[in-house]
Amino acid sequence: MIVGIPREIMPGEDRVSASPETVKLMTQQGWTVLVEEGAGEGSFYHDPQYIEAGAQMIKNCEDLYNKADVILKVKEPLMNEAKGKHEIDMMHEGQYIITFIHPAAPANHDMVKKMAKAGIVSLTLDGVPRISRAQNLDALTSMSTCAGYKGILMAANYLPRFMPQMFTAVGMVKPINTLVIGTGVGGLQAVATAKRLGSVLYAADIRPDAAEQAMSLGAKVIDLGIPKEAAIGEGGYAQKLSEDLLKKEREVLKDHVKDMDIIFCSALVPGELAPVLITEEMVKSMKPGSVIVDISIDQGGNCEITPPGTVEVKHHVTLVGIKNIPGHLPTSSTWMFSQNIYNFLKYITQDGQIVLDRNDEIIAKTLVTIDGQLVHHGARLAMGLD
Ligand code: NAI
Repeated sequence: MIVGIPREIMPGEDRVSASPETVKLMTQQGWTVLVEEGAGEGSFYHDPQYIEAGAQMIKNCEDLYNKADVILKVKEPLMNEAKGKHEIDMMHEGQYIITFIHPAAPANHDMVKKMAKAGIVSLTLDGVPRISRAQNLDALTSMSTCAGYKGILMAANYLPRFMPQMFTAVGMVKPINTLVIGTGVGGLQAVATAKRLGSVLYAADIRPDAAEQAMSLGAKVIDLGIPKEAAIGEGGYAQKLSEDLLKKEREVLKDHVKDMDIIFCSALVPGELAPVLITEEMVKSMKPGSVIVDISIDQGGNCEITPPGTVEVKHHVTLVGIKNIPGHLPTSSTWMFSQNIYNFLKYITQDGQIVLDRNDEIIAKTLVTIDGQLVHHGARLAMGLD
């Protein structure tokens, strides 16, 4: 099997889909690994390391797409402006691609249809179910871990104050207060990171289990007063709250928000827009210099006035709406992502060939296009095809 690792072409994307470590694992499987020259530069993995791991370096990405049986990528196929060609047009019928596709998002509908038409077999990592046997291939969880850690470091950087308690010759510095809203994967990592930096921690989540986990990491839990039956849905995931309950939640949060120096927002119900939990009025009540990091921004954000994709100061509060936070931690996020995607490829490979068992939950939920058809349920629903 020939595996192709192209350089990512999205502006500002420093990650890559294979590290020298996973190239070595792939060659040990007997697979040939083609890596585009310079593909790992942004993550501080250099060509000589890939060569030492057994990769063949390819200068021209078109050659790489031509020769590979399977392409591993971080981002969905995009227009390669330098070549004047879309990445899909460099691919061929029957070729596999594994990456984050987000096929249900309207912006990706045309691209997904184009892949189906070209006979490409595509699998999306954002479809990996959160079940025990899929844990080591769950790239979304890895990226949320990166966002939780790096998001708090960003907040600490923007904050014009010390975070921990300090005793100095001119007096005592009080530790700051951090509130983490939504203590799932990203939120729990944020709690742990802010705690290590010496902040006093508060946490809020509508799932009692998530709140309990935050408490075990040292956070004081804010009781949101949401009944368990309303909060928890299928498979133990959070479910969308009614507008009345969200209003109630905002009322509870309002009393705490004004005392916070950092608010980290990561509240999300899978497949839904992020609930608005911090209103503009609440931002106005915060102390000057406070920081809000809103990692739910891709789904619209938990704070009403987070600027998408950027950082702005509004009402004397710094609002961080950066979308690709894991990309700001490129060596670690690449290291985690490349392990996940390697595990995924190994999972679907038998005797050197990819075999897709469509009755397997992991395959069923990640398969997007095959045999010229679009088969991803969420994408079909979003396109009105089901
Ligand atoms: P998760 O599903 O593990 O956690 C979300 C948590 O929010 C759950 O514990 C859920 O119970 C809670 N929640 C849902 N509704 C709530 C409400 N009304 N009030 C309080 N809590 C509520 O999700 P994960 O993996 O931690 O991701 C969180 C967000 O981070 C997602 O929006 C994801 O897309 C985003 N993300 C952003 C990145 C970036 O660079 N900006 C990178 C990685 C993830």
